[in-house]
Amino acid sequence: MKVWRSISMGLLLLLVATAAGCTAPEKEAADSEGTQEKVVYVYSARHYGQMEPVFQEFMKETGIEVRFTYGKDAELRERLKAEGEFTPADVYISVDAGNLWLAAQEGLLQPVKSDVLESNIPQNLRDPENRWFGLTMRIRTIVYNTERVSPQELSTYEDLADPKWKNRLCLRPSTKVYTQSLVASLIAAHGEEKAEEIVRGWVENNPKFIDSDTRIIETVAAGGCDVGVVMHYYLARLKDRNPDLPVDIFWANQEDRGVHVNIVGAGVTRYAKNREEAIRLIEWLSSEKGQKLFADGNFEYPVNPRVEPHPIVKEWGEFKMDPINVAEYGRLQKRAIELMERVGYR
Ligand SMILES: [Fe+2]
Repeated sequence: MKVWRSISMGLLLLLVATAAGCTAPEKEAADSEGTQEKVVYVYSARHYGQMEPVFQEFMKETGIEVRFTYGKDAELRERLKAEGEFTPADVYISVDAGNLWLAAQEGLLQPVKSDVLESNIPQNLRDPENRWFGLTMRIRTIVYNTERVSPQELSTYEDLADPKWKNRLCLRPSTKVYTQSLVASLIAAHGEEKAEEIVRGWVENNPKFIDSDTRIIETVAAGGCDVGVVMHYYLARLKDRNPDLPVDIFWANQEDRGVHVNIVGAGVTRYAKNREEAIRLIEWLSSEKGQKLFADGNFEYPVNPRVEPHPIVKEWGEFKMDPINVAEYGRLQKRAIELMERVGYR
């Protein structure tokens, strides 16, 4: 059983879904007057950042109603797989390029040729085969306690393997896809052997493994660690609530390839029944209006270069980003996981 949230009428439509199949929605749902209404069904793993106002605005502009349900990435992929051609979902929204890559790999998404998407989204932030498209950027970088560390001491992800950081690091466990993507980017940059040496160095520094970026930042603020690696928006959220928090952001690897970039992205499901509406939604989310609402809701960076980020993150200035195609995180994910296992990264 799952709950559809509908932004138009506040209607909660219950659909019974089983592994064998489920009730597919009609192409166009009829409202109480019997007139036809366009809809698009979304499975979203992005649950924070206020999706309702974004979809509301989309409906106001296009007349297309969005019905959406939240879930964890892996759960939603499992559901898409089990439902097969009977899936009600037209769009899959996911956090982390590694997840989008997996969905595409498992044949859950279909290619979309769109000039709008190609012009709004930089090439390295979308699937080379057009099955998914980055909509916002999240930057996984270094944060530090401003009372215990000076930014001059910081430089790169690689440098966190230096013994000077012994007993001073807070890291996210290897089970989190964010960590897997970061390690995948090290493999892409250095090859497996060198990447393994770097990650082994992190582990030898005896980091605290904490399975929440927010708790990592709180631990850094409290002096339990001096330095952490987190997604930038968790710091933006905490700074929004408490500007005096003694933690600051450091853009890693500015002298070489640039900081590690990940995405929230979307794709049209393989069996989408409302394909046109689905494409329309993703295109709109990449447009200036859609970008602003979608990115600002969670302090993320718009992928569309014509859109300004939220003032809190804009204040952090400009920085150099690793230009790698984020699809590589998926391609190298398995090797990243195995590498972490070998060096005892928890
Ligand atoms: Fe997150």
